[in-house]
Amino acid sequence: MKIAMIGTGYVGLVSGTCFSEFGVNVTCVDKDKATIKKLLGGECPIFEPGLAPLVSSNVSSGRLAFTTDLKKAVSQADAVFIAVGTPSRRGDGHADLTYVYEAAAEIAEAIEGYTVVVTKSTVPVGTGRKVKQVIINTNHDADFDVASNPEFLREGSAINDFMRPDRVVIGTDCPRSENILRELYRPLYLRETPIVATELETAELIKYAANSFLATKITFINEFADLCEKIGANIHDVARGIGLDGRIGNKFLHAGPGYGGSCFPKDTLALVKTAQDFSSPVRIVETVIEINTKRKIAMAEKIIGACNGSVEGKTLAILGLTFKPNTDDLRDSPSLTIIPILQAKGAEIRAYDPEGMEEAAASFDGVTFCAGPYETIENSDALVILTEWNSFRALDMKRIKKLLKNPTIVDLRNIYVPQDMENAGFVYHSIGRSSARKER
Ligand code: UGA
Repeated sequence: MKIAMIGTGYVGLVSGTCFSEFGVNVTCVDKDKATIKKLLGGECPIFEPGLAPLVSSNVSSGRLAFTTDLKKAVSQADAVFIAVGTPSRRGDGHADLTYVYEAAAEIAEAIEGYTVVVTKSTVPVGTGRKVKQVIINTNHDADFDVASNPEFLREGSAINDFMRPDRVVIGTDCPRSENILRELYRPLYLRETPIVATELETAELIKYAANSFLATKITFINEFADLCEKIGANIHDVARGIGLDGRIGNKFLHAGPGYGGSCFPKDTLALVKTAQDFSSPVRIVETVIEINTKRKIAMAEKIIGACNGSVEGKTLAILGLTFKPNTDDLRDSPSLTIIPILQAKGAEIRAYDPEGMEEAAASFDGVTFCAGPYETIENSDALVILTEWNSFRALDMKRIKKLLKNPTIVDLRNIYVPQDMENAGFVYHSIGRSSARKER
């Protein structure tokens, strides 16, 4: 089996590499010459744990190739995956499908023999049919079917998510293309991975429903964390108490500063727009977006509150800038909202992130970037933990106590135990946990 993966961004590169690991011959195509040059030179353009060695071993085995030549890659492929970007369209929140349709037209011109054209990018309901139309309009003779195969990869654990998925969704109206996709995912059969085979539109909607539901779950627990703070309850125990109910499940119930990243914010917004277009609003998701946006601002206020109501002239040490650990991605990260507010209120910001420093340097003005956690904390008035990187989980608190001007810690990811922090002499603020209560 041969496939072409159009787009070597996050989804395309991870999916293409993992398919090649399954034994499929994969050619990853990108218009961006610099990216392809990097990949051909053995360099991995994105940070994802485990990806670089997997790319190089599959390139060495001859199953994984990179090119800018879409025509050649597509003409030889049994299946072509469209994995190009679908950013939020400026102004209205709709997903911008320009790159998807451009790719579809180019694929149409290059198709030789029966080919399945698969959308892997997250695309609004109805896009698959439009892709089909674009291909027909461009090349009347093309022998093809269109399918939707959404991805459920999380940044930071994408390889594992691809190799051990909870399910694979295949949306197509035609058994021939379904069979080709089933064959591609055959290595997962041993694990008895459920395959949800459905029609195009349903597969497209499943992707938005999954991300919106997860964003809702996080927002639910975040609001309960606020309530816990008011009534002296503990959000960890609440999450555990409800999460053990199999109908609810214990994942994505970790309270924090609000969800970010390249998917939840963009996909919830796109779903809301689609639903409004069909006069069938998804009011829960609309509310989730509003709460999450306000939450990031509220987190800046929480930090100011922890600094006795003012950060004017104070220096704050920020640990973690990426939207979550194990990624270098800052897109829609809470740090992008929180830090500028603190700066506007007169704070000096010192910051460190294990992987996100390069992107951070281009995203923030006036921030002093430091070489490590302790350098960041030195002579600061308070320590703020924004992302739960493992390397922040066991910091030397005695050393920190000496380095900080005031023993104030704001932990927006709840990685420390309130009682321990109080015993260590800190004024410790976290999310949804009353410090007076003992954590078990
Ligand atoms: C998300 C989904 O989890 C993937 O299944 C999906 O494939 C992907 O979007 C996508 O559409 O491409 P990702 O954005 O990489 O993956 O990150 P998540 O691990 O889902 O985290 C998203 C945000 O939610 C982060 O800001 C994280 O800190 C936050 N979060 C997550 C919480 O605040 N609490 C939780 O319990 C879980």
